[in-house]
Amino acid sequence: MAAVISAAGLARTFRTKTGPVEAVRCVDLTVREGEILGFLGPNGAGKTTTLRMLTTLLKPTGGAATVAGHDLVTDPAGVRRVCGYVAQSGGVDPQVGVREELVTQGRLYRLSRSEAVARAGELARELDLTDLLDRRVGALSGGQRRRLDIAMALTHRPRVLFLDEPTTGLDPGSRADLWELIRQLRDEHGTTVFLTTHYLDEADALADRLVIVDRGVVAAEGTPSALKLEYGGSLDATLQDTFLAVTGRGPAPADSSPVAV
Ligand SMILES: Nc1ncnc2c1ncn2[C@@H]1O[C@H](COP(=O)(O)OP(=O)(O)OP(=O)(O)O)[C@@H](O)[C@H]1O
Ligand SMILES: [Mg+2]
Repeated sequence: MAAVISAAGLARTFRTKTGPVEAVRCVDLTVREGEILGFLGPNGAGKTTTLRMLTTLLKPTGGAATVAGHDLVTDPAGVRRVCGYVAQSGGVDPQVGVREELVTQGRLYRLSRSEAVARAGELARELDLTDLLDRRVGALSGGQRRRLDIAMALTHRPRVLFLDEPTTGLDPGSRADLWELIRQLRDEHGTTVFLTTHYLDEADALADRLVIVDRGVVAAEGTPSALKLEYGGSLDATLQDTFLAVTGRGPAPADSSPVAV
């Protein structure tokens, strides 16, 4: 299948008062259309910074990338048209009503008022938000709030959906519902899903392929099974052990040389 995201040498250095911070040093990756990619890495590895670059919220300081053929730097509007993004922590005004939030999002994507109202109703049905449409955003539970964030990101039916830790803080039932929704988006709409998570069981269950970043570079990539075999020593290895071996914060397999980080 064709690549829908490709990045080469993507980098971002932040200038701070105490000197430069190389948040992302060199990220090369390819994501195929319709794939669920698990983007893993320790705290501070550069995951959110990479997502913010790929969704054009942040300019790279090095390298290049395209999303659905649109270049991040020369065609950011093209990238935004095909992307949905759910940030690590949402920034929605708690006083606004759920319906209003969804309709406003539609209007931002240039739907007419009546189209935006219709789309809000459709999204509310798909994400099980119909009974909550008249609530204030501030009165939603964590899981309901996450579903609203995702509904908003799906307003313009994006080809690529970026989810930054979408299930953090969700109860097991809400998490299972979200996994189901992500699979449905892929199966029924061919949506490509680029997701970060610290829950390795989630990455194992959901992702077709994993990319593990550490200190701003790609440390390993492959299917969950291939990574377990290569870094965990066997197919029975847990993804947790595999992850620790890749990031150098755990035992490397006995029959291979230490993993460079
Ligand atoms: N605006 C900024 N200015 C300075 N440094 C930043 C900025 N944003 C991020 N960083 C730094 O860049 C590094 C990568 O941050 P990033 O948020 O991308 O990590 P992450 O992999 O998403 O981590 P987590 O798993 O904790 O969410 C961190 O050291 C962070 O402190
Ligand atoms: Mg992050």
